[in-house]
Amino acid sequence: MEKHIKRIDLTRDFAKHREDYLAAIAEVCEVTAFSGGEFADRFDAEFAEFVGSKYACGVNNGTSALHCAMMALGVGPGDEVIVPANTYIATAWGVSYTGATPVFVDCTSDTWQLDPAKIEERITERTKGIIGVHLYGQPFDYSGVKEVADKYGLFIVEDCAQAVGATYEGRNVGTLGELACFSFYPGKNLYAFGEGGSVTCDNEAYFKHMTRLKNQGCDRRYYHDEIGYNYRLEGLQGAVLSVSLKLLPEWTAKRRAIGERYHREITNPLITHQVHPENTDPVYHLFVITVPDHDDFVRYMAEANVECNMHYPVPCHLQEAYKFLGYQPGDCPNAEYLASHCVTLPLFPEMLDEEVDRVIALCNAYTMR
Ligand SMILES: Cc1ncc(COP(=O)(O)O)c(C=O)c1O
Repeated sequence: MEKHIKRIDLTRDFAKHREDYLAAIAEVCEVTAFSGGEFADRFDAEFAEFVGSKYACGVNNGTSALHCAMMALGVGPGDEVIVPANTYIATAWGVSYTGATPVFVDCTSDTWQLDPAKIEERITERTKGIIGVHLYGQPFDYSGVKEVADKYGLFIVEDCAQAVGATYEGRNVGTLGELACFSFYPGKNLYAFGEGGSVTCDNEAYFKHMTRLKNQGCDRRYYHDEIGYNYRLEGLQGAVLSVSLKLLPEWTAKRRAIGERYHREITNPLITHQVHPENTDPVYHLFVITVPDHDDFVRYMAEANVECNMHYPVPCHLQEAYKFLGYQPGDCPNAEYLASHCVTLPLFPEMLDEEVDRVIALCNAYTMR
């Protein structure tokens, strides 16, 4: 039996950079700056510089980042926010936490991203904004979405959880919308040793408000000006993220090299690739393909000792949690097709060339059984 290839293996990164990570952790422990504090603040400054935004507001995860963004933009009960049907469910949670309603819109059949042409028919007088997701590390059609947003006076929030380092028309994701939300969940392109997230923006008022919200609603200790949350980024995560941020350009280059090889060299007509428009430079967080029979393909790869999985098996509008909104199968046909035909291939920066070769050869040798 050939050696096992995992979908993602973080142990190789730790083995390679062990000394740097442990030194960073020890530094935090020595001064006990555990909750917020100097290491979290240092990372915020480094991350804002990396993204090219004026501010980065570090938080405890990407879901909180989305919640803070919605609160900063004044979203509340009775409001509606457009969210892609094809995304990780947390994109919608921030909207729901405020008491507003996510309104799900289908993706295109080729880029698998939010379809700007389908947004307008879902806009009502209650619509406040649009969350676009740079899904799988591939920037969404920002110009198309912006045209609709401008026509109706809506905000755009970028969900950059899967796309740190990607560019759209030469601009970094995280600098396009009013606010941009990042996740540093383990396995993301930039990841913490636990949970982490950030919201980037150029607007000082939004930044100050989110800083207060994440810090129990206070600017001055024990004086609470509004109902707040404990959404602070931990010092240990800030210190680890400062180490990882230095490694990110190298990791991104490796992800791109593998992703581009998959694109070029997987030529089996049974396999469909995501289309990457020329004005984008994706970062290959997830390499998703579609196949006629998901179960057959995943079983075939598993028999060859290669792990694959699915992103995501149920589109947001058909999740049990949103049953009360009344969506039906057929409402977002492209997202539904993806949910039942997608497969995510192994891809992570430390993958060996021979592992990439094997995945490509297996994909090309696949025939439906
Ligand atoms: C597109 C997207 N949005 C939001 C999130 C939420 O981030 P977190 O898991 O850090 O809360 C994730 C990741 O899990 C994601 O992939």
